[in-house]
Amino acid sequence: MGARPELRKPHYFSLEDIDAIAAEIRRRAPGFTPRVGLILGSGLGQVAEAAADVQAVIPYAELPDWPEATVWGHAGRLILGHWAGQPVLIMQGRAHYYEGYTMAQIGLPVRVMRRLGAEFLFVTNAAGGINPAYQPGDLMLIRDHINFMGLAGLSPLRGPNLDALGPRFPDMSRAYDPHLRALAHEVAREAGFPLHEGVYVGVGGPQFETPADLRFLHRVGADAVGMSTVPEVVTAVHSGMRVLGVSGISNRANLDGQTITTHEEVLEAGRQMTPKLATLLAGVLARLA
Ligand code: HPA
Repeated sequence: MGARPELRKPHYFSLEDIDAIAAEIRRRAPGFTPRVGLILGSGLGQVAEAAADVQAVIPYAELPDWPEATVWGHAGRLILGHWAGQPVLIMQGRAHYYEGYTMAQIGLPVRVMRRLGAEFLFVTNAAGGINPAYQPGDLMLIRDHINFMGLAGLSPLRGPNLDALGPRFPDMSRAYDPHLRALAHEVAREAGFPLHEGVYVGVGGPQFETPADLRFLHRVGADAVGMSTVPEVVTAVHSGMRVLGVSGISNRANLDGQTITTHEEVLEAGRQMTPKLATLLAGVLARLA
């Protein structure tokens, strides 16, 4: 009622808040325990069509506190079902910091996944290719990230630490699980498509980068750039989840200022990459011990 929105935005959630959402999901899918949480990024939502034996489909708007995906290209619902023999909780669309959410809100779904029992987070995104070898339509396995926003203090872990989930100062030296990466390479090799491996840099957006921004990011070691993923991975690692991250290269980042990047281009590339990404994710799921 006229209160300034920034005064009403939650900057952290209690374990009770998180567990209330988990309870609502359990009520909708009784007896279902997801082993893997999967976040599908821009233009990649169709991957969810592979889910079988669907137990529940829940629009984000029906869950308390759950951040809605306001960006075109994100369906905004949870799908609980099986894929390649594994019980999975799929987020078809995600919230981004640039939409006005707090970092705590962006981390919230991952915490709910964890409280529901998920041991793994598989996270996908559309990203701009900075590495000159990358072409639109390629996939890049994330080996590590540069937390551009986080280094300066924007963390989903800010606020009272939830000791039941993980430690105050989580180690990030192996954020992207080496075993899961090895499995992904095996799947790509068998399926016969190239799979890059590189460093993802997470930036705030929503504006795309200037050519000077991109030259800077290139020089500090980034191979791909995007506006998501990093806060979710930080949240997952904090709570002991093992993470697989995949970027779909939707466009060539414009280091020389010769082309422009559009959201339409990002979504279209996402649609083209969907079959390859689905093969990759299903293959890793099938190989989970
Ligand atoms: N920059 C940042 N985020 C993106 C890009 C990009 O070029 N492409 C898709 N997401």
